Order: sequence, then C-alpha cells, then structure tokens
Amino acid sequence: MSGEETPTQQQQPEQEKQPDEPPPSAPEAPQESGASPAAAAEEEKPLPCRALVLTGYGGYDKIKLQVKTLSPPQLKPGEVLLRVKACGLNFAELLGKQGLYELLPAPPVTLGMEGCGVIEACGEDVKDRKVGDRVIALDRSGMWQEVVVVPANRTFPMPEEMSFEEGAALPINYLTAYMMLFEMANLRPGKSVLIHMAAGGVGIAVTQLCKTVPDVTVFGTASASKHETISQGGVTHPIDYRTKDYVEEIRKISPKGVNIVLDPLGGSDTQKGFNLLKPLGQLIVFGAANCVTGQKKNLLAMAKTWYNQLSLSTMKLMQANKAVCGFHLGYIQDEELFGSSMMKLLELYKQGKIKPRIDSCYHFEEVAEAMKRMHERQNIGKVILLPEAKKEEEKPKSNPEPVENVEKNEDAPAQQKEEVTEEVKAEEN
Ligand SMILES: NC(=O)c1ccc[n+]([C@@H]2O[C@H](COP(=O)([O-])OP(=O)(O)OC[C@H]3O[C@@H](n4cnc5c(N)ncnc54)[C@H](OP(=O)(O)O)[C@@H]3O)[C@@H](O)[C@H]2O)c1
Repeated sequence: MSGEETPTQQQQPEQEKQPDEPPPSAPEAPQESGASPAAAAEEEKPLPCRALVLTGYGGYDKIKLQVKTLSPPQLKPGEVLLRVKACGLNFAELLGKQGLYELLPAPPVTLGMEGCGVIEACGEDVKDRKVGDRVIALDRSGMWQEVVVVPANRTFPMPEEMSFEEGAALPINYLTAYMMLFEMANLRPGKSVLIHMAAGGVGIAVTQLCKTVPDVTVFGTASASKHETISQGGVTHPIDYRTKDYVEEIRKISPKGVNIVLDPLGGSDTQKGFNLLKPLGQLIVFGAANCVTGQKKNLLAMAKTWYNQLSLSTMKLMQANKAVCGFHLGYIQDEELFGSSMMKLLELYKQGKIKPRIDSCYHFEEVAEAMKRMHERQNIGKVILLPEAKKEEEKPKSNPEPVENVEKNEDAPAQQKEEVTEEVKAEEN
C-alpha cells in the first residue's frame, strides 16, 4: 500500500483495540465508479487494514495478523488500489516462513503473491482498468492484506462467472503449469507426463492442462486417500509414493518411461526423474519440497536434498539424449509472457476446460491452520485465505491477544509507509 504517512497520523496513532474487540475491516469500496484519483484521495481518511505479516523466520507463530493504519494512498502512474477479497496460499510461503524463499524480502514483510478483488482507485495512465473492476492480481509479496497497491499490468480482469476464491487460486498454479507444459516442454498429443504432488495446486493445474491435449497419459504421485479425486480429475495412473516405489510402478505400466517429468521435489527424486525419461524426453525441475518436512526448518532434510541433487556433465547429457530444464515463475520479468499466458488461461476457464479446485478457505485469523493443512499433506487443490474478519459466531473460543503499538515501515514493493496499531496473534500450533 503506498501513501505517505502524515505527521498527524504519527502523533495520533489509532487507539489499541480491546482484547475481545474483533479486528476491524477496512471500509467498503465506494459504490460509484470512475471517481477521479484526486477526488478519491481527498475523501479518504487513514484506513485500518488487516494484514498477515511475517515477523521472523520459524513456525506458524511468526505470522501475525496485524491491523495497520494506512495513510491515503498516493497512487503512482500505472498503479491501482485493490480491495482484496481472497488470496492464494502457495508452497513458496511455507518456504518463506522458514527463510528458504530467496525472493521474499526480509521480515517484517506482508506475505502473499496472488489474490483477487475489486479496484477502488486508479493512478494516472491506467487506461484499461476502472474502479469497480473485479481483477486477479500478482505481486512478489504483500497480497495478504485487505487493501493493496499493485501495478495495473499485473492485474487481469476476472470472467463474470469466476468466484473470488477461484480467481485467487488460478494465477500462480496455472501459470506455472501452463508455462512448463506449453512454453518449455511443448506438450503434444500422445505424450506422457509424470507430475509429483499431483493433488496439490500445481498438480491439479498440470492435470487439467494435460487434458486439453488429446491422448496424454498422466502419471501422478499423491497420498492414497486422494487417488479417487485425482483420477476423476484426469490423472491416468495415480501412484501412492508413500507405500510404493513410483519408479517401479511407472516401469510396470510403461517400461520405456515417460516423455516429460515435472519435478517439484528435488534431491534424489530429480535423479529418478531423469532416469525415467524416454529418449528425447524432458525433465523440468521447479521446486525443492523435499527440503520441507514440517513447520520449522529441517537442516538435515535440506542437506540430504542438496547432497542428492542431480549432477550432470553436458557430455553425459548429450549421450543421454535428454533435456533438463529449470522453471521459476518468480524470476520471469516478461510482462508480455505473463499477459498472454493469463489471457490463454482465462479463455480456457471460460470454455470450461480448466477450473481451480478449492480445497479449503480460511480467514486471516486461521492462517496457521491453513499452513498446517499443507504441511500435513491434507489438501487436495488450493488453500485460500480470506481477508474478511471471521464472524463472531465462527470465532475460536480464545480471545486474540492485544499487543503493544508498533511503528513499522515495511519495505514493500510500493514503498508504503504504514503504522501498525494492532496485532492479533495468529493461531499457534
Ligand atoms: N518454480 C515455480 O515457479 C513454482 C511455482 C509454484 C509452485 N512451485 C512448487 O510446486 C510445488 C507444489 O506447490 P503448491 O503450491 O501447488 O503446493 P501443494 O501442491 O498444494 O502442496 C501440498 C501437497 O503436496 C504434497 N507434498 C509432497 N511433498 C510435500 C512436503 N514436503 N510438504 C508438504 N506437502 C508435500 C502433499 O500431498 P501428497 O501427500 O498427496 O503428495 C501436499 O498435500 C512446490 O514444490 C512448490 O515450491 C514452484
């Protein structure tokens, strides 16, 4: 959120809330569209804004629900102000919490790389977005808050029939799957694909996109309890990696192996994936989930993953007739590539060919439970976070703890200055 903090605000911080008082929601969006940015800014008063802030590296308790008091946003040209309705939880945030995601700024930092909501104001030069538009938005961090400033070119209009939850579930999982399958691997009819974590957000996106190409065989590893769901979703051969050797299982079905391996695990699984490739096959490494065994950093698992990683000489690669690629959405800066890929995905959505599967939705207060669900490998599809305060009757029995006033100047992308006036401790486990 951009906008300079006025001296008045610094002198008169918002009063600390009572322990049993629910954290406030920021005021609703103005109803009429098209208000000029200057007029809108004049009308605006400092806003309370609930945000999930990573305060240090470690377990669930390091993510705090804070209420910042935001000064009226001074939008730069090309920026829009978004009222966030739903946000996506990604594996990257599990890594970020442990200090293992290099693209996340150092704490304290508001987490969140994707979300969607309604535009409340537009900066100068924003031609193709207007107040009231429902959009999907992406940023490096900072999306897990009620109101956020984002570049307009990182927002994408939502189809009318798309829910906010679906909108928040789409960008990272589906862009990753789409770019790997179609930009890198050039998936064609008749090919076979192995995807690990097949019941997770990216796994389900990969499966649905494979189904848009005729006659593609999908091998997917997942816990046994998820097999029925992923089979219905399009995985041809679900494999329980917990009780079976997936390499043996694949070889029983396809002795020559597979054409494409998508590897989000790293370590010894990358080596296995490489060996499973048919001649001219392609391995795409896009994660290192094997480093993560629980909510806190596991140095042994990290060392093991590092030690067992695939090591190849180009000579060996040439003789193997195989391709090894790396993919990381966070390092893609090409706005055109983002835009064109999102347009294709939104078109596929409108045609009913893809549809994000929502595993569960949690309010900001429940972020620890949401993360636990992923760490404990329970999710099938996307875990969503909702900025809207949990209703009184839904509240957990224990009251949130009050905290001292903290003045904070977070180094978020829009160089926002914000004052934290209240913090509600996220649920601990
Ligand atoms: N490079 C990129 O640009 C990019 C972008 C997005 C995601 N990714 C990577 O893609 C992978 C999937 O990400 P996602 O956000 O879609 O998450 P996710 O798939 O929802 O992850 C959770 C599921 O993965 C499985 N899993 C396997 N190993 C796990 C582990 N060590 N810890 C927790 N769960 C594990 C579990 O299901 P089962 O027990 O059924 O296997 C679990 O339910 C991650 O490695 C992530 O880093 C990379």
